[in-house]
Amino acid sequence: MIHVKTPEQIARMHEAGKLLAACHREIASRIRPGVTTADIDRFVERFLAQHGATPEQKGYMGYPYATCASVNDVICHGFPSDRPLQNGDIVTIDMVVNLNGWLADSAWSYPVGTISEEARRLLEATKGALYAGIEKAVVGNRIGDISHAVQTYAEQRGYAVVRDFTGHGIGQQMHEDPLVPHFGKPGKGPRLREGMVITIEPMLNTGTYHATIDEDGWTARTADRSLSAQYEHTIAITAQGPLILTDQTIFQA
Ligand code: MF3
Ligand code: CO
Repeated sequence: MIHVKTPEQIARMHEAGKLLAACHREIASRIRPGVTTADIDRFVERFLAQHGATPEQKGYMGYPYATCASVNDVICHGFPSDRPLQNGDIVTIDMVVNLNGWLADSAWSYPVGTISEEARRLLEATKGALYAGIEKAVVGNRIGDISHAVQTYAEQRGYAVVRDFTGHGIGQQMHEDPLVPHFGKPGKGPRLREGMVITIEPMLNTGTYHATIDEDGWTARTADRSLSAQYEHTIAITAQGPLILTDQTIFQA
């Protein structure tokens, strides 16, 4: 069942989203060679606590950390660790913020120091695929219109779209209906209506889209150990068009 939100409820999710976006801006300023993702995870816990929010991922289905930290060939759900980030790495930090019972979800890939041209192009294409999907998040379209736009954007640039993990509805629960796959056919799937809130969170790989899961039961890697990146926003479907609840650009002067 798809929960449609009132404008007041979307405003509360927007507050969670603005806090999450601010947290990502702080992370961006902290990521550099030598920093560990465990350091970043501790920073996020502190930042959210200082702002009266909690990390929804911690304890979710037994997940042990506030953030997911996915380095290089890790697609998603990597554990924060004490391994220092190295020049040339790419790392995706994913988190779900709970502010007064309302949630927002956003993942962002960061370059560490100076990265390869291959990695830079992957980041650019993955962010572009997210925004290609957001453009289709309008009243009257269907979920498949978003899926198809993301897939087309990615594949035209030579990247594979991960199948095993999708976007989702979100509200007072992290995962609500509908599923939002990042591959599919236009005109298919649930119709988008005013008040729906979804995530779009494409994961693009330089090699195969197939994934394997590590012994820890969480860490998803590309089967061929190729590079993977991810960008995710939480988006409200409004009469005025897609409203990006986790937009970071509002903090630019
Ligand atoms: N933020 C992720 C998503 O997009 C969820 C991470 S799984 C968790 O759905 F268990 F770690 F929370
Ligand atoms: Co999500």
